[in-house]
Amino acid sequence: MQPYTELNLYHLALEEPWFSADPAPELAKARQQHPWLATSSYGPVVTHYPVVREIMSMEDKLRNAFDEMIERMGAKGTPWGDFQHNHILNQIGDEHKRLRDILAPAFTPRQANRHRDLMRQTISDLLDEWLPRGRFDFEEFISHYPIAVMCRMIGAPVDAIPNVRWALEALGMSGSRRMDLLDTMNQAVLTLERFSSDLVAEREKRWKPGDDDDLLDTLLEARHGGGMTHAGLINLLVFLFGAGYDTSKNVMTLIMHEMVRHPDIYERCAGDTAFCSKVADESMRFHGPVNGARLLTADIIHRDVLFPSGTTIWFPKSVIGQDPVTADDAGSFNPDRDVRQPHLGFGYGSHICLGQFIARAQIAEGLSLIAQRMKKPTSPGPEGWRPFLGVWGIKGLPIEYDTA
Ligand code: HEM
Repeated sequence: MQPYTELNLYHLALEEPWFSADPAPELAKARQQHPWLATSSYGPVVTHYPVVREIMSMEDKLRNAFDEMIERMGAKGTPWGDFQHNHILNQIGDEHKRLRDILAPAFTPRQANRHRDLMRQTISDLLDEWLPRGRFDFEEFISHYPIAVMCRMIGAPVDAIPNVRWALEALGMSGSRRMDLLDTMNQAVLTLERFSSDLVAEREKRWKPGDDDDLLDTLLEARHGGGMTHAGLINLLVFLFGAGYDTSKNVMTLIMHEMVRHPDIYERCAGDTAFCSKVADESMRFHGPVNGARLLTADIIHRDVLFPSGTTIWFPKSVIGQDPVTADDAGSFNPDRDVRQPHLGFGYGSHICLGQFIARAQIAEGLSLIAQRMKKPTSPGPEGWRPFLGVWGIKGLPIEYDTA
């Protein structure tokens, strides 16, 4: 048995823009030096798909690393620090279960299917508005889609989105650990808290027990039943607006990046939501949007390597699906493949994404209609990439298409 600090590991430059732009080959190089572990400025990084699952399964010995991130950023007691400390992803045990139980009934596959008409209507309205332009930034276009669906699900006014979009963008950078963004992220949290408080105050004027038109009614039921404080409710709403915004936006932009390189696959997406779901799964295996960490709350010895309590271990879930063990020819994009390991794009374990059925439905419905109406898209490629840590993805994807 050897402490991980004594191993000769490949260094992954997670914080560098060139790394963000093409991380998979770096992980492959790291695996040549050690079969499943690399190092970085932020702690050890697991580079092998089965080991990500093995370590993430040890839930009694680890927790999400938000407190470590707040500490590192010197953000304790700030609006952003308090938000990160209190949200559902940072909870464990009974408190986590309590919050998940409140939300779970609104996030079943059946509930997600109920929103399909709303999704189709939303993307259709957006296409009506944007397609006549002939060219646009796909990332910007698609950013309006998940948040409009989310607002309608929660019962928030969709016309308020332009005012809070900057705040959602800023909040989406939370995992990047960039100190220079702290002021903006604090302002973003305050803005979204105000937005959510106004929403609750407005609804409470007419709310009565038993109302169940949307998610806000469900949350108010929990609030008035004594299951949640006012601050807890606002925190949850801000989390949900964030969770439903840039993850889906980034997945759909990554999918479109792949589609312009595979026009034959894109054409098959038109009107075929079942095939679009396969494209989405393959895309999330190939490059998902989330890279996360766990903080060890006890020593672990895994595959003969010791990680002491207090170590932050990183899981590059976004591109771990390109590890050769996940599929034959794992480095190629092929939605028709029969066998692939389940992707980790929605996480793994007790915190697995609650919104995954909504996200899946949203992506399939969106892609199917986009492919039906936006013909022969081309792109010179991404203008840039978001920081690798946290929510990763493309920053700016110009596209042109046939308007005929
Ligand atoms: C493609 C879109 C999405 C992706 C890739 C995604 C990804 C993730 C991931 C990776 C986690 C787990 C993080 C961890 O374990 O540290 C997570 C948790 C969560 N997501 Fe999503 N998400 C998406 C969309 C959504 C949507 C639309 C909602 C809600 C409307 C949502 C709500 C949540 C919630 C509430 C949690 C916390 C679960 C818990 O702590 O028990 N997500 N998501």
